[in-house]
Amino acid sequence: MQAFQVAPRRSIILAISIVTLFVVLFKFYGDVPYEYYRNYGPAEPMAPIEVNNDKPQPGYFKSQPEWDFSVPPTAKGWNGYARVPKDRDVIVLTASDGGGHNSAIPNVLERVLDDRQKYCDRHGFTNLWLNTSRYDIGEAHRTWSKIPAVAEAFSLHPTAEWVWLIDTDIIIMSPDTSIVDAIIAPNAIESGLMRGTPILDGQLKDHPTNISTPSDFRVEDIDILITQDHQSVNTGSVFFRRTAFTRWILEMMTDYTMLMGKEHVGAEQDALKHLMLEHQLVRNHVGIYPQRKFNAYVQGGNTMGYRDGDLMVHFAGCWVGGKCKDWFEEFWGKKGSKEVWRPEAQ
Ligand SMILES: *[C@@H]1O[C@H](CO)[C@@H](O)[C@H](O)[C@H]1NC(C)=O
Ligand SMILES: *[C@@H]1O[C@H](CO)[C@@H](O)[C@H](O)[C@H]1NC(C)=O
Repeated sequence: MQAFQVAPRRSIILAISIVTLFVVLFKFYGDVPYEYYRNYGPAEPMAPIEVNNDKPQPGYFKSQPEWDFSVPPTAKGWNGYARVPKDRDVIVLTASDGGGHNSAIPNVLERVLDDRQKYCDRHGFTNLWLNTSRYDIGEAHRTWSKIPAVAEAFSLHPTAEWVWLIDTDIIIMSPDTSIVDAIIAPNAIESGLMRGTPILDGQLKDHPTNISTPSDFRVEDIDILITQDHQSVNTGSVFFRRTAFTRWILEMMTDYTMLMGKEHVGAEQDALKHLMLEHQLVRNHVGIYPQRKFNAYVQGGNTMGYRDGDLMVHFAGCWVGGKCKDWFEEFWGKKGSKEVWRPEAQ
């Protein structure tokens, strides 16, 4: 009799323990990629290694499977969707081969990747570094290879909804700020985009294009978020949403005969600028935010130059005066700081 009563109680306790174990396992499963631990060592930067990304592609990038990323049925038409993404479906993408002007800054790639990993951990975003050396982009300048990296990011992370492509020479200065709340969420897009603002092709006073962003738009249609400096859109910091439009524009930007294979001083940046100036359809899908929202420069007036509280600073053009290292270290020392440093009135 005694044994008869104990047995069911034991099995109930056992069953509850097993269910609890599974709940706990599944709750945390996938939160932290294993690569994170694999590379962990005391006092070492914890940059994630993309295992799919260490071999050169076997041929021209547009014929590779990574380029052919899928788009969900909700976003297959011209009219996309608008929703707040899950944090893990937001990718912070650093696409670089580690070379270029940035090599003036000691260990810049390791340092910014480690810092971006911390930013992603804080908000639950996915940090991704892709080595752009592996893309065969023909004779085109290497900076075009950021575009296949965007496609590869969508391909490697099939549930990713937004990819934030940021150059290496950028420091996230206000890591408390969530890019979802501040930039990507439908209400942020609705209230933040510049309506009827001139699209630049050189300085406005010298080269008026007479073309502006739409005076009204549907948030569902906005698939790319970008900023302009005093001369043109800048591709140092851009957001792409997984939609049919995004697939199409990545293909158009890298059209080899008309754009990528030709001499364009601003490379992929000129391609996007050209498509915006030429096509109403493109203007309807590319939203322009005020520059300091996610692309403040080291120097510049109140619309362009970094001020306390701005999300990030971009060292665009720092090589011109050989200032990259000094500027980088100065800002690196102030990241996350709440003290008054660069107030509006200078
Ligand atoms: C990127 O890949 C190329 C070719 O495989 C390699 O030479 C280069 O060192 C890699 N860059 C970094 C930063 O690891
Ligand atoms: C813009 O408008 C001005 C004034 O009408 C004109 O002089 C200029 O040529 C136009 N620019 C372009 C690129 O059409």
